[in-house]
Amino acid sequence: MAVRDEFPILATATYLNACSQGALSHRVRAAYEEYLAGWDENGAEWEHWVERAETARAGFARLLHAVPDEIAVTTSVSQGVNAIVSALPLERGGRTRIVISEYEFPTVGQIAHAQELRGAEVVHVRPEADGSIPVERFAEAIDERTALVCCTTISYRTGHRHDVAGIAEAAHAHGALVLADSYQAAGAIELDTATLGADFVTGGTVKYLLGSAGLGFLWVRGSLLPGLIPTQTGWFADEDIFRMDISDYSPHATARRFDAGTPPVPNIYAGVAGLSLVEETGVPAIEEYVSGLNTHLIEGLAGMGATVVTPADPARRGPLVCVRSTDAAALVASLAEDRIICSLRDANLRVAPHFYNTAEDIDTLLDALRRRRHLLA
Ligand SMILES: Cc1ncc(COP(=O)(O)O)c(C=O)c1O
Repeated sequence: MAVRDEFPILATATYLNACSQGALSHRVRAAYEEYLAGWDENGAEWEHWVERAETARAGFARLLHAVPDEIAVTTSVSQGVNAIVSALPLERGGRTRIVISEYEFPTVGQIAHAQELRGAEVVHVRPEADGSIPVERFAEAIDERTALVCCTTISYRTGHRHDVAGIAEAAHAHGALVLADSYQAAGAIELDTATLGADFVTGGTVKYLLGSAGLGFLWVRGSLLPGLIPTQTGWFADEDIFRMDISDYSPHATARRFDAGTPPVPNIYAGVAGLSLVEETGVPAIEEYVSGLNTHLIEGLAGMGATVVTPADPARRGPLVCVRSTDAAALVASLAEDRIICSLRDANLRVAPHFYNTAEDIDTLLDALRRRRHLLA
């Protein structure tokens, strides 16, 4: 496959770790070099940087089937989520309950609990014995006091996919807003803000979007923008960044009000390049291809009697597969000795192929796991 030539690491490793970091491509490396060359030749390319940030905004909008005015360009999921909760009037007579799934990334859970200092009450929605969290569990926790429901699209710990649309319906019935952290989906699972159901969608470029750390996005439902005034802000969120006015706070009318300081320019170069690789193949094609690789993996694991934590049903899983280990750290380290790169969370080995992987990569991993069967539960 020609696309494999873009990713030098594939020549020397079986790289199955997109849930931690996508493989580095020639194109992303060249983008960093372009940034450095521009700096060297022209110094501060201020206007060009602003244009690059808008290019990233437009790219994230295409990815989410949204419009650029509904996209904030952030440095991380954390920045976007903090900006959102800062706009909730928790301590100003508003609703005070924040409902979070047990599968939220630490940053979302910790930001939610930080709001306890502003009077919030945080309710956790825990998984069933089979690891899934059905809509009903969320519905039980949501009431008229609920300001926000956080339901990550794909669990970074188990690979489960939430029924975001169903959860959003339950939340909206009570007037609550919904945040879907989609970091483990963006670039590998089709995300359409028109049908996803969430009011806020966030993610970043480190993983399936093939960029580097330090760049993220936040989609905000357009109709909510007038009523959401973040108290966490910065000069790039102002209605006119070139006004340089310190006499008031005038947030931008669009989702740019959730931007903050100077855009992460080098990471934008990389992020735009990574996104272009994803777009050339197209997310629906990537989703189908990766799902097929994962079906092959899950069948192979089942054949050796391993405990697969991720659902077998493609509609209920994301692009990563988790399998129970007796010693996940030892297993990851042992696989790395054979240049098979995976990761771990809890007691699980995490395997995350992308469009640059092949069925042979999965067979290489399965063979290696057969030789290490004692490290699988
Ligand atoms: C689901 C999920 N959310 C968020 C993050 C990261 O958040 P941030 O961009 O704030 O570092 C990750 C991974 O690093 C993740 O897997």
